[in-house]
Amino acid sequence: MAIVCRSVADLRRVQSDLRATGKTSALVPTMGALHAGHLALVAHAATLADCVVATIFVNPAQFAPNEDLDRYPRQEAEDLEALEAAGVAAVFVPDADEMYGPEDATRLVMEGPALGLEADFRPHFFNGVATVVSRLLLAAMCDVAVFGEKDYQQLLVIKRMVADLKIPVVIHGSPTIREDDGVALSSRNAYLSDEERIRAPELNRALQACRSALHAGVKEDEALIQATERIEAAGFRVDYVAARDADTLGPVTDLANARLLAAAWLGTTRLIDNIGC
Ligand code: PAF
Repeated sequence: MAIVCRSVADLRRVQSDLRATGKTSALVPTMGALHAGHLALVAHAATLADCVVATIFVNPAQFAPNEDLDRYPRQEAEDLEALEAAGVAAVFVPDADEMYGPEDATRLVMEGPALGLEADFRPHFFNGVATVVSRLLLAAMCDVAVFGEKDYQQLLVIKRMVADLKIPVVIHGSPTIREDDGVALSSRNAYLSDEERIRAPELNRALQACRSALHAGVKEDEALIQATERIEAAGFRVDYVAARDADTLGPVTDLANARLLAAAWLGTTRLIDNIGC
């Protein structure tokens, strides 16, 4: 049976029991609304440690007032069932007061990989993510933690934050899980209408075509314009399509170590995707 912890004190007791029996643990932070992508993170985590600890918390600090905090899907009972079936040892399900008490006055401010791309459109986002992830890592004190490459910039921001704060945990990225037509799994896909879902694969197809164009010698600017036009032709409103160094998110200096990243709206749903070159 997975142990459900609602407080940091309970979670710390679970961790000290695990340590007392010599067990290592891997953390999988989530905002719930679990899908096969999250369960792949759990499966990956299980290869890295003796036990997996998952968290479910829809973090208000990473949503701007105009974003989808209220409509973000919440399904705690189903999520707990899925995590139990996946064999996790414990699930941390705090409420907002547990993570941010009434006198809370501490927020992280991220720079480096947190600048540009997503931050140009969601300026509050990475500070909110870094703040909550630092708290989750320190509450759980697991040996490793696993995050999806689907949120590639987020993964780099978390690695930077952990290195800067010297939090004793090793961060692992886990490959994006996709539907058969290439759409990256995301809790937000549930917002898509049937008609939008039919058009959604164009985001990934455009990135793949961009990668082929770059390898065929098309200049970066031109390849990115072609990708943007293709995504727009499918009915998206594009926030960005970019090619960046996979480690720093700075300009590409070596195509073999480049990452293509995109964010675009289909109706009221914002989708993001990225692929390696
Ligand atoms: O990727 C997510 O689901 C969230 O941003 C995370 C890392 C759980 C922090 O709230």
